[in-house]
Amino acid sequence: MQDLHKEADNARNYLSKIAKFAEAKFDEHLPPESDVPCNLHKAMRYSVFAGGKRLRPGLAYAAFELFGGKGDSIWKATSALEFLHTFSLIHDDLPCIDNDDYRRGKFTAHKQFGEATAVMSGDALCVIAFELMAKTGNAKAVEILAQKLGTYGMIGGEMTDIDCEGKKVSLETVDYIHYHKTAALIEASLVIGALLAGAPESDIKKIEQYGKSIGLAFQIVDDILDIVSTTEELGKDAGSDVASGKATYPALIGLENSRKKALELYEDSLKPLAEIKGDTSILKSIAAFIILRVK
Ligand code: IPE
Ligand code: IPE
Ligand code: MG
Ligand code: MG
Ligand code: MG
Repeated sequence: MQDLHKEADNARNYLSKIAKFAEAKFDEHLPPESDVPCNLHKAMRYSVFAGGKRLRPGLAYAAFELFGGKGDSIWKATSALEFLHTFSLIHDDLPCIDNDDYRRGKFTAHKQFGEATAVMSGDALCVIAFELMAKTGNAKAVEILAQKLGTYGMIGGEMTDIDCEGKKVSLETVDYIHYHKTAALIEASLVIGALLAGAPESDIKKIEQYGKSIGLAFQIVDDILDIVSTTEELGKDAGSDVASGKATYPALIGLENSRKKALELYEDSLKPLAEIKGDTSILKSIAAFIILRVK
């Protein structure tokens, strides 16, 4: 366990280092608040710069480095991934979806700007993300992004999450929800980082498999934190899953078994990594960070 904590600290340092570069690019890639419609641009910047772990940019960059990527295209991809993630959070928090008031330690977009502006700011972030990914010049990266985001990806997972509220569901259904609403964008981050570095197809499959395991682990830990943490600690509304009868791991198998499952997934994630030639140590650290994170 002590080793795992060391790994997690290592990942935290890496993610904050990459976040600094990525955030400078977010600023470049977002329209200025002084451009019309000012309030929309203000809302987009508010949600993107509210904070966050910047996990998806970190994963994309780690995969890019692992496969010897060169050049600047990766920073367009890291912005695209974080803008899409932020779009998913803005819409996830809306009154018609999770109805939450806090996100990243601040008011949610709809609390701060009203529902119409929040919806539009999410839409606009999604559109800019695809424009940026297209500018990498890698058509396959755009295609992967669309697949992982669409009805067979994040949006499919979010839809099923909403449809299952208050219902008794199987663990298989919870897995479907978690793999789609959360793991899909995590897989996309890794696969796109690898694609931009020119990694071979066989390695891309392995990195995607790693992403699937850490993606499910990430959402299980999110479900656990919703129960055991406070709103202050998380920077987002704690206890909201139970309140809205969400299909979560702890609801189905309890907290202790959920923790065990996250640890198993950590171990599963290391298997495909071990088959990749090259230094995968930072991805191993990030997997440890995912299961030990407290926010
Ligand atoms: C929150 O994602 C939404 C889920 C997929 C559980 P993060 O926990 O990565 O949120 P930020 O980016 O750090 O705010
Ligand atoms: C949502 O899962 C994942 C997304 C696609 C945004 P949650 O609804 O559990 O995420 P939080 O807890 O609000 O961040
Ligand atoms: Mg939700
Ligand atoms: Mg939510
Ligand atoms: Mg949650």
